[in-house]
Amino acid sequence: MKPQGLFITLEGIDGTGKSTQLRMLASHLREHGCRVCVTREPGGTRIGEQIRKVLLASHNTQLAALAELALMYAARAQHLREVIRPALAQGDVVLSDRFNDASFAYQGYGRGLGTAPIRAFDRVICGPTQPDLTVVLDTAPGLALERATARENRSRSQQSRFESAGLEFQKRVREGYLAIARREPDRVKVVDANRPAIEVQRDIRHLVDTLLGSSRRKGETKAKGHKAKQ
Ligand code: TYD
Repeated sequence: MKPQGLFITLEGIDGTGKSTQLRMLASHLREHGCRVCVTREPGGTRIGEQIRKVLLASHNTQLAALAELALMYAARAQHLREVIRPALAQGDVVLSDRFNDASFAYQGYGRGLGTAPIRAFDRVICGPTQPDLTVVLDTAPGLALERATARENRSRSQQSRFESAGLEFQKRVREGYLAIARREPDRVKVVDANRPAIEVQRDIRHLVDTLLGSSRRKGETKAKGHKAKQ
């Protein structure tokens, strides 16, 4: 059965300002009467957040790349079942801070697993539940890593395993995202994130509003008026 809502994902290497953009986009959509479900990966569910801790903990240096991939998809399976599919089925706009493409970029390209194992997990776990639109926030890896590291220092927490993987890793991840965008130009849009947040947001809103407009014309989305659930 085809879900009725819209599934939008935000992607990019670490430190591109993704979370801020997601918050701004959610407010925009709510102001326009959409019922919005904001979520993230890895995580988004109680079990998924426990898996996230294992994945991000910098002391887990022994974690094998394939184990990392399998844990990403374990969290994703739970997320799809508990959050994403139910929200789409009731006509919500689902905004996810990362999803499947992150596994292609980080594990496929960054860790060097290639695309075959990711495609296999994708087929079994995500199946037909794929994003309608994916926005990749693109910025130079050096700059992004500095921002991500500064943010971690501010919160006095440790760097995640992915941030401490270094600049060459982040460069491969970025190449991965750009390759996905070349392969699927209709779904995946690259936005230059090396600009003031307000300008980046303007471009994202334009992409999302265009998608909403065409989906409303097809009668696929349920706008819920101004008493939208927060
Ligand atoms: P994220 O929540 O974006 O971290 P932060 O909010 O601290 O920027 O993502 C956590 C990390 O998980 C990020 O470095 C990317 C990584 N990741 C993967 O490697 N593969 C995946 O499939 C997903 C969803 C995330």
